[in-house]
Amino acid sequence: MHLHKYEKIWLVFGIGSLVLFLAVLGVAAFAFGHQPPSHMAKVDSQNLDQDVAFSEPGVTQINDNTYQARIIAQAFSYKPSRIEVPVGSTVYFEITSADVVHSFTIPETNINFMVTPGHVNMAEHTFNEPGEYLVICNEYCGTGHHHMQMRIEVTE
Ligand code: CUA
Repeated sequence: MHLHKYEKIWLVFGIGSLVLFLAVLGVAAFAFGHQPPSHMAKVDSQNLDQDVAFSEPGVTQINDNTYQARIIAQAFSYKPSRIEVPVGSTVYFEITSADVVHSFTIPETNINFMVTPGHVNMAEHTFNEPGEYLVICNEYCGTGHHHMQMRIEVTE
């Protein structure tokens, strides 16, 4: 009978711990929201033409040498297909996808990230060398994947 009593105590303790653990886990998950890591804002990929930020993608000057570039990636191009900034500019990229997962990759820079539909994917880069920078898609997105690219013109 004593054994039975201890078994019961341990059983209650075990279930209690499990419930407490799950409760803590659940509260933690919902309290902070199930969001992808930082640098992500949401956007409706089905209605980009009505979106405040993405209805007119392109470059906006923020101040002297700071620019914001909003770009839409879609199979198999970027919109716009070419942007221009003066040398020395820091460009804040905000990129989203109108369809599937693409990437926004500028070879030989630190810019190389996935572009996911429904999210605004952000990164910044300072262009200290003038010239034409090629942007390519590094994420297989369909038959035209290898032709998906755009250009960034960094002028003197
Ligand atoms: Cu877009 Cu590969």
